[in-house]
Amino acid sequence: MDSSSKVEKVLITGGAGFIGSHISDRLVESGFGVVILDDLSSGNLNNLKCDSSKIKFYQSKITDTSIEEIFAKEKPDYCIHLAAQTSVNHAMGAPLNDADINIIGSVNIFSLCKKYNVKKVIMASTAAVYGEPKYLPVDENHDVTPMSFYGLSKLTMENYVKLFNVPYIIFRFSNVYGPRQKSSHESGVIKIFHDRMIAKEEISIYGDGEQVRDFVYVDDIAQVTLRAIKSEVCNEIVNFSSNTGVTINELFNMMKEIYNYPYLPQYKEKRIGDIKDSILSNKKAKELFGSIECTDLTKGLFLLSKDCDVVQKERK
Ligand SMILES: NC(=O)c1ccc[n+]([C@@H]2O[C@H](COP(=O)([O-])OP(=O)(O)OC[C@H]3O[C@@H](n4cnc5c(N)ncnc54)[C@H](O)[C@@H]3O)[C@@H](O)[C@H]2O)c1
Repeated sequence: MDSSSKVEKVLITGGAGFIGSHISDRLVESGFGVVILDDLSSGNLNNLKCDSSKIKFYQSKITDTSIEEIFAKEKPDYCIHLAAQTSVNHAMGAPLNDADINIIGSVNIFSLCKKYNVKKVIMASTAAVYGEPKYLPVDENHDVTPMSFYGLSKLTMENYVKLFNVPYIIFRFSNVYGPRQKSSHESGVIKIFHDRMIAKEEISIYGDGEQVRDFVYVDDIAQVTLRAIKSEVCNEIVNFSSNTGVTINELFNMMKEIYNYPYLPQYKEKRIGDIKDSILSNKKAKELFGSIECTDLTKGLFLLSKDCDVVQKERK
């Protein structure tokens, strides 16, 4: 918060989604004014757990030029740009739609940020911009050779924001997990296992299960984003991850124990285009924003399983 004690306002595109709603919670807790712009295509107002009187919500598309009215009225100090087409598979089948939302929509947002003097834009990018890792952990100097239209549209967003001459932070996230994630999301292997283990349904693992991934807990993302808003750091590309690899087989076994799941996984043929191993380095994030105690995977999985009980009780 600045010294004049004026409440600073943050516009979050995609704020009713999985990651956006957790960031909204943190911002409200920290005394920021929060304005959400979301078309609710995959987000949900029920995701907003914080005091809703502290949030202004606009149901709009980022591609719609009339959203200028929101910028003119709200005059946000900061913008966190999360609204996106997030599916690799969808992008491969419908690249025009992916480019429309992720590129055209982002250009609309960045132009308005520039026009309305937003102090800093924080945008969500992805490990998919790197393509097949040449070394691990992948740091920000690694080549960028996306293997999907989704990775390419995110990389293009990155290149646009750099040219808009608005202070920016580009976060490249690894696989994010936690409460409020939809199991339909491809990156949501943990949520898929979670839902299937609760329902005692069969679980498929593609390939031999020895592929390594790093999973980062959603509230850790919310914390680092809050620090990025508060800090003077700008014009940086920063990975954010747990920096810790786990194989899909290890993940399965950890969750099998937590959920008391009785079955073994069904191994299926490796999917074309799946990266073998992926771990992002978060060394730069720590240097820029200070040490963030990343939630240990066992604890994060436990929190996820507990949240489900709470939600189930609420539903009864
Ligand atoms: N979840 C992950 O593992 C992960 C990893 C790397 C990067 N990211 C990025 O983080 C961001 C948030 O992802 P998420 O997992 O919370 O997904 P999500 O689908 O839960 O959130 C996206 C939000 O954007 C909204 N939205 C989509 N298209 C829109 C449009 N045209 N106009 C307005 N709103 C629109 C959706 O309704 C949703 O609320 C995305 O940019 C995604 O690419 C996510």
